[in-house]
Amino acid sequence: MGLLSLVSAACAGDFPQSTLHPTADFGESIDQLYRTIFWWAVGVFVLVEAALLFVILRYRDRPGAAAPKHVHGNTLLEVAWTLAPAVVLVFIAVPTIRTIFRTDGTPPEGALEVEVIGHQWWWEFRYPELGITTANEMHVPVGRPIALSMTSADVIHSFWAPKLGGKRDLMPRRTTRIAFTADSVGVVSGQCAEFCGESHANMRFRVMVDDSAGFAAWAARQLAPPPPGDSLSELAQRGLAAFREPRNQCIACHRVEGVAQGVLGPDLTHVGIRTTIASGILPNTPEGLTRWIRDPGTEKPGSLMPRVNLSEEEIAAMVAYLLSLR
Ligand code: CUA
Repeated sequence: MGLLSLVSAACAGDFPQSTLHPTADFGESIDQLYRTIFWWAVGVFVLVEAALLFVILRYRDRPGAAAPKHVHGNTLLEVAWTLAPAVVLVFIAVPTIRTIFRTDGTPPEGALEVEVIGHQWWWEFRYPELGITTANEMHVPVGRPIALSMTSADVIHSFWAPKLGGKRDLMPRRTTRIAFTADSVGVVSGQCAEFCGESHANMRFRVMVDDSAGFAAWAARQLAPPPPGDSLSELAQRGLAAFREPRNQCIACHRVEGVAQGVLGPDLTHVGIRTTIASGILPNTPEGLTRWIRDPGTEKPGSLMPRVNLSEEEIAAMVAYLLSLR
């Protein structure tokens, strides 16, 4: 009974990366396919087990029974057990191929295009139509078709947000596509699903599905310039100075509109709006940012962001500056 309740408890609860509760058409078509195949498998299981039990009971050894007669070949049986699985395979193959074609990423009319670029170990999201570049948190409007065109800046990664649909690889110098329409507002978690080096497991992302007003507000915010330096608190102004200091290397990799033009790391123009940093491994709070800046290689092994020799005061100032970028 205890075991049973444990097993049934495993089916309840909130699993952010469950494929069994799809929230987009792409995920739903895969879920439907999964259910179709599941019921075919149940049918095959029941028939095979019934035949097995029948043979075990009907032909079991009985005291005094004569040895069974040996037979060689039975054309009817052999044709039947070749044809039956072939028919089952056809019933599985047709919906499978249909689903593959339906989800192969041909962008529907009026889709919002998002370019996804995989990096070791973070995600870049660009909205060419809107002129927005962000990282690790992709905002999309609910109900509108989204067309992802994906590539990689280095090695092969794989985009997988299980609630939205299946995974698809991101390859350098190639473009792969996913199209989906999210059907409910909320946060969908995802992660890289192709081993891509030391911090593969730390390459997470979030898809924020907003209602159309929320998405428009987010987009407007992204398009606005970051707060001007003289509007910042005194601490944040010191952070800006530390950020700009070439010796600290920040500006070599990161972009902040009007401040730095780096392209190797995530665009930080509006980093203060994001809920997590470092590709989803730390909360975007003073504590999380402090830990990250203090020692990126410990938080994310192999991280390309170097450990910079900063005093605790300088880190606190830089954290205040980054959180002001809203
Ligand atoms: Cu990127 Cu694994």
